[in-house]
Amino acid sequence: MKFIRSEIIGHGHYAPKKVLTNDDMAKIVETSDEWITTRTGIKSRCIVDGETTGDIALRAAEMAVKTAGIRPEEIDLVVLATITPDNTTPATSAKIAAKLGVKPGTPSFDMSAACSGFVYALTQADNMIRLGQAKTAVVIGAETLSKITDWTDRNTCVLFGDGAGAVVLRATEGEGTSKDTGILASKLYSDGTHYDNLCTTGGPSSTQNPGFITMEGKEVFKFAVNSMPEAALAAMELAGVSVNEIDWLIPHQANIRIIENVGKKLELPDEKVIVNIAKYGNTSAATIPMALSEKIGDGTIKKGDLVVLTAMGAGFTWAGAVIRL
Ligand code: ACO
Repeated sequence: MKFIRSEIIGHGHYAPKKVLTNDDMAKIVETSDEWITTRTGIKSRCIVDGETTGDIALRAAEMAVKTAGIRPEEIDLVVLATITPDNTTPATSAKIAAKLGVKPGTPSFDMSAACSGFVYALTQADNMIRLGQAKTAVVIGAETLSKITDWTDRNTCVLFGDGAGAVVLRATEGEGTSKDTGILASKLYSDGTHYDNLCTTGGPSSTQNPGFITMEGKEVFKFAVNSMPEAALAAMELAGVSVNEIDWLIPHQANIRIIENVGKKLELPDEKVIVNIAKYGNTSAATIPMALSEKIGDGTIKKGDLVVLTAMGAGFTWAGAVIRL
């Protein structure tokens, strides 16, 4: 019997045009390029100027649909991972689906799992494809974190940015082995005992206000350097692949020191670890699809390459996936 896989057939990304460098940040709060660069690896971040999460998500999704070479009528699922939706309800994905021109009645939903959101969304879309509930899914990670950032708090405001990334998944037949093309395995986790370690200061039902991001940086750091390798290794075990078969690791881009630690723990050479944090900072659910799309687009990631995704974020949530392009 043939095995159904979800293959990535299209990729897209979009970064807002307005760029804030570390020197710009030093005019807003008491900080310096030197502090931000050495502690985080971030040099600049892109910030929306009049655009919403839905607007930038749509740009990434349109590029993904274009590179996939499909017609909007072929899309039968739209999933958006975000913690910065345009409205509390409806889901921003519904608006994006309509603007993409999908058939009325096509299912769409938002996924809230913070920085792990894209891997969560990809997993749900993959599950629906493998169950036969969808054939062609647009999966997006997009955030306007600038809208939930406290621009007077130097501990957090230097870290975040806005951006969007997307893929198109298409059902394809495989053999059920690690040689197949598509999503080979994924693994999701959460542990709500860490709810308060990384959160916003509010929300619709608690303060009637979205609040600002606040975190215990050191706790987050310690958890990330253990949980991201754990999720990557678990997904690799499920996929039946070993570390030396991996062509690329795309870790969530929160901090260069977290990324380096994760690469070391997995014993991967630096050249195999994809890093773009310097340009964009932490864009939560958007970091992984932005990096994936950029690197497919510039030819770094090629057809047949084995790619591991790993992320950790508020919740805490963490997640890993293994994909053959
Ligand atoms: N500029 C200058 N000084 C600063 C800044 C800043 N932007 N921010 C903090 N400082 C100061 C602090 O006030 C502190 O000063 P003090 O010693 O006088 O009190 C000093 O720098 C050291 O602060 P620490 O918090 O000890 O710095 P640390 O080395 O832990 O780095 C950081 C902080 C970068 C936040 C780190 O803890 C980290 O990366 N944690 C992971 C959190 C993260 O990336 N979160 C993103 C969201 S979660 C996710 O995506 C996984």
